[in-house]
Amino acid sequence: MKFLNILSSKEKGMAKQNVNTKLKRWRSVYYFIFILGALALLLSVAAMFKFLSFKSFLGTESLYSNLNPEVPNENQNKVMMVTVELVIQKIEEELNKLREAKQDPSSSQTVFQQGAFLADILGLLESAASSHQHSEGNNKQNGSFTIHHPLVSKKKQSDEPADYFLREEIRKYVRIKPNRLGKQNFMGANASFTSIGHTCFAMKEELEEYMDYDVGEICNDDWKLAQKLMVHGCDPLPRRRCFSRAPKLYSQPFPINESLWKLPDDRNVRWSQYRCKNFACLASNTTRKGFFKCADCFNLTNHEMPRWVSLEADSNYTADFLISEILGIKPEEIRIGLDYSVGTGTFAARMREFNVTIVSATINFGAPFNEMIALRGLVPLYLTINQRLPFFDNTLDLIHTTRFLDGWIDFVLLEFILYDWDRVLRPGGLLWIDSFFCLKEDLYDYLKAFKMLRYKKHKWVVVPKLDKDDQEMFFSAVLEKPPRPFR
Ligand SMILES: *[C@@H]1O[C@H](CO)[C@@H](O)[C@H](O)[C@H]1NC(C)=O
Ligand SMILES: *[C@@H]1O[C@H](CO)[C@@H](O)[C@H](O)[C@H]1NC(C)=O
Ligand SMILES: *[C@@H]1O[C@H](CO)[C@@H](O)[C@H](O)[C@H]1NC(C)=O
Ligand SMILES: *[C@@H]1O[C@H](CO)[C@@H](O)[C@H](O)[C@H]1NC(C)=O
Ligand SMILES: *[C@@H]1O[C@H](CO)[C@@H](O)[C@H](O)[C@H]1NC(C)=O
Ligand SMILES: *[C@@H]1O[C@H](CO)[C@@H](O)[C@H](O)[C@H]1NC(C)=O
Ligand SMILES: *[C@@H]1O[C@H](CO)[C@@H](O)[C@H](O)[C@H]1NC(C)=O
Repeated sequence: MKFLNILSSKEKGMAKQNVNTKLKRWRSVYYFIFILGALALLLSVAAMFKFLSFKSFLGTESLYSNLNPEVPNENQNKVMMVTVELVIQKIEEELNKLREAKQDPSSSQTVFQQGAFLADILGLLESAASSHQHSEGNNKQNGSFTIHHPLVSKKKQSDEPADYFLREEIRKYVRIKPNRLGKQNFMGANASFTSIGHTCFAMKEELEEYMDYDVGEICNDDWKLAQKLMVHGCDPLPRRRCFSRAPKLYSQPFPINESLWKLPDDRNVRWSQYRCKNFACLASNTTRKGFFKCADCFNLTNHEMPRWVSLEADSNYTADFLISEILGIKPEEIRIGLDYSVGTGTFAARMREFNVTIVSATINFGAPFNEMIALRGLVPLYLTINQRLPFFDNTLDLIHTTRFLDGWIDFVLLEFILYDWDRVLRPGGLLWIDSFFCLKEDLYDYLKAFKMLRYKKHKWVVVPKLDKDDQEMFFSAVLEKPPRPFR
């Protein structure tokens, strides 16, 4: 609106200036005013066109400009759209007047030329406006943090993700790679489609830093950057063609009868990105430099040993169950499973003693959890919460989760995760929710989310969490996935 005001005052100014000099050259006042109006409009159109061209006209760079935090917010967009529509309307009015003027035999050549020019500009403006509207339609979220997937965008814009990135290694990675013989491969695809998480486009700078390496050389020690990208949704990350860094000296891990309950050799971990520089530091009560939710997880003897095999004395207020108790629900049936937790793999270590194979999904929050699990002789699964589980439907006997999905998690995300767990659990499989905690006032909603699964309840316990002034509650349950016959 401001924009139009400026223009109209400019128009008036021009009119005043020019009245005396130009009046004589034109036969009628009508034509004079009309041409001046057209000129002013041309100016405004040119200015507007320039403005628009930055946002939605030119090539691929503008395509992704909406990913940029500097992009005008929804309000500004609206103002711009209103302005553009006004300009379009004015040009249309002017064109109508021009058409009338053409019928007047006294009209000059300039009138025709300007009519043609105006019509041209009008077409461009309208197409710009419609493409802008389209992109706004995609943009239902908040202006400042909206993401445009390049593959969802349309027309004028290239649908090649490779065109968005400058670094050649990313471009090479995301490009579709046709099969060498030009035929379908044994998987039924005629090309390979390597993919990256769509949020990678919003983290262009970090991703390009991550992909800045020399092919065939040693990679930077940048797993932390990689994890940051993954946690923020750039997941999957592109692969790289450099050799990952390793600890300087890797000593042979302990044999399995020892490794399960012994702190590993410090030399087998790259410590540069952690505050602690050895396992003793992580295990020590006094430093607390690991991950706050798992401050004691590296203290194997005192903290980890008793978990799931013995209960604390005050067992009236516990949300803990014993492994023997849970396996007793389905004797001989539980063989494989997933532990979706934060921890050092103690659950998997214990389950191993019961001849159950557990993979432990965790990422490295402030401590080398994956390295620790692997050095204990267990299987770490490096997985963020953003990812669909890499298991097929109806395959696992057990899913156990603790200290990970707690009262911070969004309800909608929790539902997506629960349905994903349900997908990979086999009928008759067990879901063990272990000490889920949340604020008292949220408890009802969270319980509703778990009830939504309609599983058979083997155990269902809600107890107050005693360390936080009764503000929080613990919830534990063991639930069984029902059979779902085809219909
Ligand atoms: C959306 O953005 C406005 C300001 O632009 C902010 O006040 C509001 O909290 C945001 N909403 C969400 C859901 O992020
Ligand atoms: C792959 O197959 C699709 C149809 O299934 C076809 O449109 C496409 O051109 C093929 N691509 C290559 C590289 O042959
Ligand atoms: C582990 O097993 C090896 C050989 O099987 C044995 O020599 C060693 O004593 C065992 N260690 C422990 C702590 O039991
Ligand atoms: C584990 O914790 C106990 C006390 O809770 C402490 O005495 C012991 O030293 C810790 N273990 C290690 C390896 O620091
Ligand atoms: C270690 O932690 C336990 C409980 O986590 C506590 O009882 C004990 O006093 C702590 N020891 C030291 C030395 O801080
Ligand atoms: C636990 O509950 C039982 C009965 O409900 C009671 O007899 C016992 O004293 C309680 N124990 C504690 C430590 O509160
Ligand atoms: C685990 O398997 C071994 C060898 O098959 C067997 O000796 C052991 O009793 C089993 N342990 C349990 C808890 O079932």
